[in-house]
Amino acid sequence: MDKSRVVLGVSGGIAAYKACELLRRLTESGHDVRVVPTASALHFVGAATWSALSGHPVATEVWDDVHQVPHVRIGQQADLVVVAPATADTLARAAHGLADDLLTNTLLTARCPVVFAPAMHTEMWEHPATRENVATLRRRGAVVIEPATGRLTGADTGKGRLPDPAEIFEVCRRVLARGVTEPDLRGRHVVVSAGGTREPLDPVRFLGNRSSGKQGYALARTAAARGARVTLVAANTALPDPAGVDVVPVGTAVQLREAVLKAAADADAVVMAAAVADFRPAVHAAGKIKKRDGEEPAPVALVRNPDVLAELSADRPRPAQVVVGFAAETDDVLANGRAKLARKGCDLLVVNEVGERRTFGADENEAVVLGADGTETPVPHGPKEALADVVWDLVAARLG
Ligand code: CTP
Repeated sequence: MDKSRVVLGVSGGIAAYKACELLRRLTESGHDVRVVPTASALHFVGAATWSALSGHPVATEVWDDVHQVPHVRIGQQADLVVVAPATADTLARAAHGLADDLLTNTLLTARCPVVFAPAMHTEMWEHPATRENVATLRRRGAVVIEPATGRLTGADTGKGRLPDPAEIFEVCRRVLARGVTEPDLRGRHVVVSAGGTREPLDPVRFLGNRSSGKQGYALARTAAARGARVTLVAANTALPDPAGVDVVPVGTAVQLREAVLKAAADADAVVMAAAVADFRPAVHAAGKIKKRDGEEPAPVALVRNPDVLAELSADRPRPAQVVVGFAAETDDVLANGRAKLARKGCDLLVVNEVGERRTFGADENEAVVLGADGTETPVPHGPKEALADVVWDLVAARLG
């Protein structure tokens, strides 16, 4: 990521302390970060901390260094403004175009991408006033990350937690990399499956596969950074939840089918990146299968699992829904891919060549995306996020 000018707006919530970690990640990756806290934010983390960590002076009002016209300049020069945490009050002031402190002035003068990472109590997040303010900000092109669910400030739990700063950083990274102020997937609901299913033999053993889930997580993360509401159906992954993404954990192919079909009911697009087991043991033993001296092991009988991708493609809950599959091939990659695309009935099929060059769990990938309309989009070797962005470009074009 090139060195960019980032404005980190911090508003007055207990999660302000987590913004220190976000600031550190932004500066360590080479960006020039100007912190603009609200006056309330300074009740939680002092100006000295922001100033020392950013290497810049810190002001909350427009009356400091007036000769430099900071209320206009900071916003005008920014490549990205990220507000984390964004309180209900800050979202309201931003939505209504108020300019009563340096942060809101900056938001009005910025013409770059703007990301809000809200954090507040569940009641405040769910209040119609906040809902409408968030909708207004999204309509105007801001990326408003859905808060995480978990422990809140007091003893209560619910939706409203600030997502992990490392994951907010990932959203910033994606938004900066694309450099566009119009999140093209805003207002869209997309479903991504990731990871690999596990089919139990008995309470301690399963048939599984090596899928790490990284490609599916990259798809979820990039879609969120492009403004989509994202449901990630995650089968047996060990990766942190991407910021703003609703993660539904599943174990088996049957559970994955149920979760994907449920989420797909109102989805604009479904991307099946998960490695779904084609077969499962016919019998799931209630107790641990024991070895017995002098006895050969019993063969494991398998039965077919449902084909979620084929089912989704054939029976779309919304006629305009875009369905994307993945395929791993060793030989005749394009011919096999074309045949699979036709067999599954999906709109796009991302075909990977597997073999010695490919390692499961890698951060990079290389593929060809085949379209049902005959198109062929090669994606050179590169980060899984680059492939994810190509997939979303093709999906967005089909959504119109
Ligand atoms: N898939 C699915 N349900 C299954 C199996 C696979 O939805 N029961 C989806 C995967 O998520 C992926 C695509 O279908 O998007 C992969 O197709 P599949 O036919 O399983 O590919 P391969 O495992 O490569 O199959 P084959 O043995 O036919 O080459």
